[in-house]
Amino acid sequence: MNNQIFEQVDVYIKNLLAPEDKALTETVQSIKDEGLPQISVSANQGKLLQIFATICHARKILELGTLAGYSTIWLARSLPKGGKVVTIESDPHHAEVAKKNINRSGLSEMVDIRIGKAMEIIQKMIDQNESAFDLIFIDADKPPYAEYFQKALELSHSGTIIICDNVIREGQVLNPEKGDERVKGVHRLNEMLSKNQQVIATILQTVGAKEHDGMAIAVVK
Ligand code: SAH
Ligand code: DHB
Ligand code: MG
Repeated sequence: MNNQIFEQVDVYIKNLLAPEDKALTETVQSIKDEGLPQISVSANQGKLLQIFATICHARKILELGTLAGYSTIWLARSLPKGGKVVTIESDPHHAEVAKKNINRSGLSEMVDIRIGKAMEIIQKMIDQNESAFDLIFIDADKPPYAEYFQKALELSHSGTIIICDNVIREGQVLNPEKGDERVKGVHRLNEMLSKNQQVIATILQTVGAKEHDGMAIAVVK
C-alpha cells in the first residue's frame, strides 16, 4: 500500500477543510509534553465527527475515552448554545490534561469530563434514567466494544448516531484469531452490528495521518 500518497492527501484535505486552530494544536502538543499515547482522531476525522453531530442537530453528546480532549473539542464545537458533551475517561492524568485543554479552548461550560470506568458510568446513567444522547462516540478500551454499543443503545433515541473508532486495526480484523484482545473486541462488535436490527450501520475505512483503520457508523432506527 502506498501510505505516502494517503498521508499527503490527508494533509491536503486537512489544510483545506480541517485546519487546526491554537486550541487544537496546543492539545496535540500537550499529548507529547505529558507523555500521553498519540491515539487521538486525526483532524479530518474530528471534522467528520463534527459533521455527524451537525447532521443530527446534536445537543447532547456522549463520548467514551477522552484522552486529551482532542475529539471532544471537535464535537463540542458543533453544539448549539446550551448543548453538552459528557466525556468519560478512566485515567486521572489523561482527564487532568483534557480539562486544561478544554478550559483553554473556552468550552468548559459545554463539556462534562467524568473520571471513571466507562461501563460503570454508563450503567449508572441507564439506572438513573438519563435522557437520550443524540450522538455517541465510542473510543475507549476495545475489548468490550460490543457491550458498550449495547449500552449506548439504551441511551439512544430514534435517530441517534453511534460511531465506534478503530474497528479495522490495519486489517487485522480480517484474522481476529491471530489478533490481540483489541482486535477480537472490535471484530465482535462488527459481527454484532451485522445482525443488529435496531440500527442501520456501515464501516468507513480510513487511511492517512493515522494508521489504516475504520469507524463503524450506525444510526438508530
Ligand atoms: N477520543 C480521544 C482518544 C481516546 S484514546 C480522541 O480521539 O481525542 C482512549 C482513551 O480511553 C484513553 O485515554 C484511555 O485512558 C481511555 N480508557 C481506556 N479504558 C477505559 C475505560 N474502561 N473507561 C474509560 N476510559 C477508558
Ligand atoms: C488505540 C486506541 C485508539 O482509540 C486509537 O484511535 C488508536 C489506537 C490503541 O489502543 O491501540
Ligand atoms: Mg480511537
